[in-house]
Amino acid sequence: MIMSPPPAAPAVPTPVLAIESSCDDTACAIVASDGTILAEAVLSQSGHVPFGGVVPEIAARAHLAALPALVRHTLDRAGMPPSGLGAIAASTGPGLIGGLIVGAGVAKGLAVALDRPFVAVNHIEAHALTARLPGLVPGGAPFPYLLLLVSGGHCQCIAVEGVGRYRKLGGTIDDAAGEAFDKVAKMLGLGWPGGPAVEALAAEGDPAPYPLPRPLFGRPGCDFSFSGLKTAVAQKLAPFAAGALPRAAAAGIAASFQNAVADIVADRVAHALDMMPQATLLVAAGGVAANTRLRACLTDLAASRGLPFAAPPLRLCTDNAVMVAWAAIETLHERHARGLPPADDLDLLPRPRWPLEQMAERFPTTALPG
Ligand code: KG4
Ligand code: ZN
Repeated sequence: MIMSPPPAAPAVPTPVLAIESSCDDTACAIVASDGTILAEAVLSQSGHVPFGGVVPEIAARAHLAALPALVRHTLDRAGMPPSGLGAIAASTGPGLIGGLIVGAGVAKGLAVALDRPFVAVNHIEAHALTARLPGLVPGGAPFPYLLLLVSGGHCQCIAVEGVGRYRKLGGTIDDAAGEAFDKVAKMLGLGWPGGPAVEALAAEGDPAPYPLPRPLFGRPGCDFSFSGLKTAVAQKLAPFAAGALPRAAAAGIAASFQNAVADIVADRVAHALDMMPQATLLVAAGGVAANTRLRACLTDLAASRGLPFAAPPLRLCTDNAVMVAWAAIETLHERHARGLPPADDLDLLPRPRWPLEQMAERFPTTALPG
């Protein structure tokens, strides 16, 4: 009798189920090795709204309450039994430590129960690699490219040179861009999160009567600063008595603030591109990348340098688990190519800080085959 050979083991263990819980979104996704999204789900926590910002303890408890059902729901959506999974991943930093511990704990538990590799993902790396998800950027997103990450917690320019190879070119020295939007929204009496509310109000405003400064504009390097701009907004609001801010003035200040942020960010990114002449693409990610004015400025900037500009669709720009699964798949491929084992140690602890530069340690040059 002729025996057929056993099926070859897949090069990397997929599909990957990933968990994201580093801030205030609880997310789970299952992604196949070719980037096909088999299922995705995000729960945005509402418990923070009365506080006007994320409360870490509330976030951690909400992740814990939501994750078991969310994982089951994601598996159901994918039409897949747990045994169909190849690997389990979670964001293990940087972020709010309580939420990271919850997400990593659930992921490790699944990995142990299913006897599958556990992959620890750097949340910023996941944002950085999202553009490479097949089909997102026309023509793909080959290395190297420049990533602008602008969210409520992050504001930085990153040279993305390869899987595990990132250089932070500059970042904020005070607030993140989204944080500035949220604080200005609060001053204007708008809800939280403030970015979309400020953008909507700005659409009807005349910025001319309310000129605002542009901190660090034109300075060497690509660091950002928004705290002086925030103070300047407070000064523009000071003449108005509490509760007596005319809508036209609020809209004018919102428009002026939004223009200032877009100008500052475009200027800093222009400097980042000067620092990275080898970049073949400009990518923006993070919640603030949803801002239409900012997108227009970045599109113009990239065009002036002969570069394409890409921003993943909003649901993949903001915190989500698809990006975590995809970063895990890229990591698994890189480990396979280098003859390294696929799994991270289950003893690995989540970390509130995890600089991207440290990701190179995962792929020591001595591990290169040949
Ligand atoms: O990436 P994200 O969903 O969560 C993290 O911070 O990780 O980003 C949320 C931030 C908030 O600060 C929100 O106000 C801001 O992104 N944002 C915007 C817009 N939509 C969301 N900022 C400006 N314009 C928008 N349209
Ligand atoms: Zn994020």
